[in-house]
Amino acid sequence: MRYLEKFKLEDLRKLKYDVVIIGTGIAGLYTALCIDERYKILLMSKDTIETTNTYLAQGGIATAVDNNDKDIFYEDTVKAGTYHNDIIAAKVLIDDSFENTQQLINLGISFDTDEEGNIEYIKEGGHSRKRILHSKDATGREIIETLDKRINEKKNVTVLENTYAIDVLTTENTCIGVLIKEDKGLSAALSKTTVIATGGLGQVYKQTTNSRVATGDGLAIAHRAGAKLLDMEFVQFHPTALYDPKREDVFLISEAVRGEGAILRNHKGEPFMTKYHELRDLAPRDVVSKSIATELIIEKQEHVFLDITHRDKDFIKKRFPNIFTHCLERGIDISKEYIPVNPVQHYIMGGIRTDTSGRTNINNLFAAGEVACTGVHGANRLASNSLLEGLVFAKRVAKEINCITPKIKRKHVKIECDLKNKEMKDDEFVEAREKIREVMKKHVFILRKEKGLQKALKIIKKVKQKFSNAKSRGVEDYTTMNMIAITEIIIESALKRTKSLGAHVLVANKKE
Ligand code: SIN
Repeated sequence: MRYLEKFKLEDLRKLKYDVVIIGTGIAGLYTALCIDERYKILLMSKDTIETTNTYLAQGGIATAVDNNDKDIFYEDTVKAGTYHNDIIAAKVLIDDSFENTQQLINLGISFDTDEEGNIEYIKEGGHSRKRILHSKDATGREIIETLDKRINEKKNVTVLENTYAIDVLTTENTCIGVLIKEDKGLSAALSKTTVIATGGLGQVYKQTTNSRVATGDGLAIAHRAGAKLLDMEFVQFHPTALYDPKREDVFLISEAVRGEGAILRNHKGEPFMTKYHELRDLAPRDVVSKSIATELIIEKQEHVFLDITHRDKDFIKKRFPNIFTHCLERGIDISKEYIPVNPVQHYIMGGIRTDTSGRTNINNLFAAGEVACTGVHGANRLASNSLLEGLVFAKRVAKEINCITPKIKRKHVKIECDLKNKEMKDDEFVEAREKIREVMKKHVFILRKEKGLQKALKIIKKVKQKFSNAKSRGVEDYTTMNMIAITEIIIESALKRTKSLGAHVLVANKKE
């Protein structure tokens, strides 16, 4: 299916821009800020500008702290990525890190400083030194609120909230804009260049740290248009979400808490990470999640504990004000009690294949941020490298757009899509979403079995078949269609990778 909706381009209301950016996380906003002011930009958000994964990021943003750190940071990144990383992209990430994080400071973002007013770098898993900039435990919020202010000052940027990108419009392998759904109905946002910066896909899992809008839309849109997706089997699971079986929403306990000395303990109170990795609680994230998953099987439990009780209460309150307050509201004083935690979906290393300028294999279509696969993360992302990737490659996308836009001539073409739409019952889309989440949790989680993946694929293919001609009645339905498409790709990619690597962990099938 090339498009999700029936339309005739010539009949649609048309908006004309030089650049359309889909998504308002760090990658979308920073791209818009780095594009020349002479270009007219449309910045679209499916929800509000703040409803993004970036906004929820607690820990921070990594950077090479000086020239001597570049090689060490590079080695940490590729080691965490199990050496599956794109070497050139990873080098770019690190080489460009300092300049871009400085730029954030110039834009007004306030990172925590020590008593002398110097930036206070912290450490997280897999980093061999302190190099993470942070704003207490709400770094993403600080970034988005500040970038949002800067965007509002730009006369060349139009922001449309509650506007859904159904598909990118393409002709002869060239993107010419976006088919969009607003309250008023369908429109076409025609553009010389288009940037997909829609973030991740966490909502295909039952439990995720991701925002409610992270449903893999950008990935599905790109895939339908013929863009290459890569490394989709590498889903990252964050080791420490607050465990609460009574609640569906997930609250993250930042890795920075382990960075400040917190220790994972099992139900016997043992600091079990000593058994699994020399870096113990600060091992790369895939190792920690896998170790917890193993420990849960050994103990037949659903959670482990995170212990920061040895740190001073005032320190904890000052360093982690949101986490402290949130846990207290849920009855846990983290300065005195262990925090029950379990791993949940957090990030996707794979995505739309791009080069180091964010170009996809479709002309004039770019991708940046979590939705893109520059290859920097390899098979497992190093902590706090996600905001950095969004930042560094957004700047490079903007640079390329500034360079090519004057040379692009708009194409006046006829595009239409005539679907044989099958009416679905009201609850069928809801049931499909629930099925996807159940299957992903059961078969495509941390420890994967070939048989489980095969079962998952069979179920998803059945769902896909049922919805093959389905008529979407609105955003929720388009989203469901996207989730079906993306889960199929994740499972197929996982089945193709027949050996464990990084976050893709295969365990033996049980004997029947
Ligand atoms: C965290 O704060 O633990 C998340 C940071 C990240 O995903 O890099």
